[in-house]
Amino acid sequence: MLPSDGYQPQLARRLGPSQKERLRKHGSRDSRGGFRASSIETPPCTDFDRAYFHSYSHVGIHEEMIKDRVRTDTYRAAIMQLQNSIAGKVVVDVGCGTGILSIFCAQAGAKRVYAVEASDIAAQAKEVVKANNLSDKVIVLHGRVEDVNIDEEVDVIISEWMGYMLLYELVPCPVANASFSSIGNFSFHLQSMLSSVITARDRWLKPGGIILPSHATLYMAPVTHPERYSESIDFWRNVYGIDMSAVMPLAKQCAFEEPSVETITGENVLTWPFVVKYVDCYTVTVQELESITAKYRFTSMMQAPFHGFAFWFDVEFSGPAVFPNNNQSQSPPDDVASSDISSPRSNLRKKRKNLDEALVLSTAPEDAPTHWQQTLVYFYDPIEVKQDQVIEGSITISQSKENVRFLNIHLEYASGGRCFVKESVMQ
Ligand SMILES: C[S@@+](CC[C@H](N)C(=O)[O-])C[C@H]1O[C@@H](n2cnc3c(N)ncnc32)[C@H](O)[C@@H]1O
Repeated sequence: MLPSDGYQPQLARRLGPSQKERLRKHGSRDSRGGFRASSIETPPCTDFDRAYFHSYSHVGIHEEMIKDRVRTDTYRAAIMQLQNSIAGKVVVDVGCGTGILSIFCAQAGAKRVYAVEASDIAAQAKEVVKANNLSDKVIVLHGRVEDVNIDEEVDVIISEWMGYMLLYELVPCPVANASFSSIGNFSFHLQSMLSSVITARDRWLKPGGIILPSHATLYMAPVTHPERYSESIDFWRNVYGIDMSAVMPLAKQCAFEEPSVETITGENVLTWPFVVKYVDCYTVTVQELESITAKYRFTSMMQAPFHGFAFWFDVEFSGPAVFPNNNQSQSPPDDVASSDISSPRSNLRKKRKNLDEALVLSTAPEDAPTHWQQTLVYFYDPIEVKQDQVIEGSITISQSKENVRFLNIHLEYASGGRCFVKESVMQ
């Protein structure tokens, strides 16, 4: 979406002297609760910022998110399940939108909620808070999390930051000593909105405070989808009795060049999923998200045409230290490095829905559909796989060099003695 002429850039302004002073005074907190000197300075609002935030000033996008009952009900249930950690506490809602999660937290007894929102939907959030007599508890701050001031430490950070394929919710983000891209006079780096949660964590979270959701997992699995292939490609074989198969190469390119966001079912999935990236929100760093590479190995559970890979994610709502080892946030736990059905851990991650355990918001094909659906990377031609046939290779997800707003997906896969590479761009 293009930036609006009427956008008021005062919200994402350059840090003023008093804010710089505060950053110098406070530095930022490292993931263990100690302070570190901040080397990051917030850049001025760019056209990309404006376009991104402008898209969130439209009510339609909020309506779609709120009407996604799987999403909104899971957030509300998680807030109520963790009521003991929220009641009487100070909360920051990173990107509050219409204010719905802030209000849930106030209903759970939060002492004070800072509802931070950079887009103009903040005006409606303020009105909603007022109409629900919560203005004394919920303070709407119209600005970027990177820019606004909150003069106290907080006990809870809540945010709904997840994009397609978990990380495709790109926002401009300043990163020191990283691979910068230049637009106009400014250098900046686009990152998942998770980077804004990291900023909030490092600026304000008390040691021992909680982050909701606390952990996120990106999965991939090989899929078969004969109907999709046939309706987009085989269709051209016979069109009103005319052989139009000459169109097929172009049809394949148009249909399968880019990743596609669509809903599949558990029946399309050929194996247990593989964990591409496990994110511990208490310890994750912005640098860790710049480029993600993982090697996978699947064993097909059936004979079928293998059409490509599906990606989806889940997030869970629990306290810190699920995996206390410091390295665990940078790679999946060892026992999920393979998707073999014999792996107890992959089984566990798929089946966990116990009421006593942390609530999980899942976007998996076998679970109720959400507005995130699944992201599919199709091959131009399917590969026939037999039951127990091994599919192995690697996946790299990184920021595109051509356009910082895009995600590059580099897939290497081998099966039945043949090797392939598929490059695609999520844009
Ligand atoms: C996915 S929406 C979620 C809205 C709301 N929390 C909900 O659950 O309905 C994310 C919101 O975060 C806002 N946002 C993204 N990055 C931000 C930042 N750095 N500072 C403040 N708001 C931000 C967007 O404008 C958008 O309204």
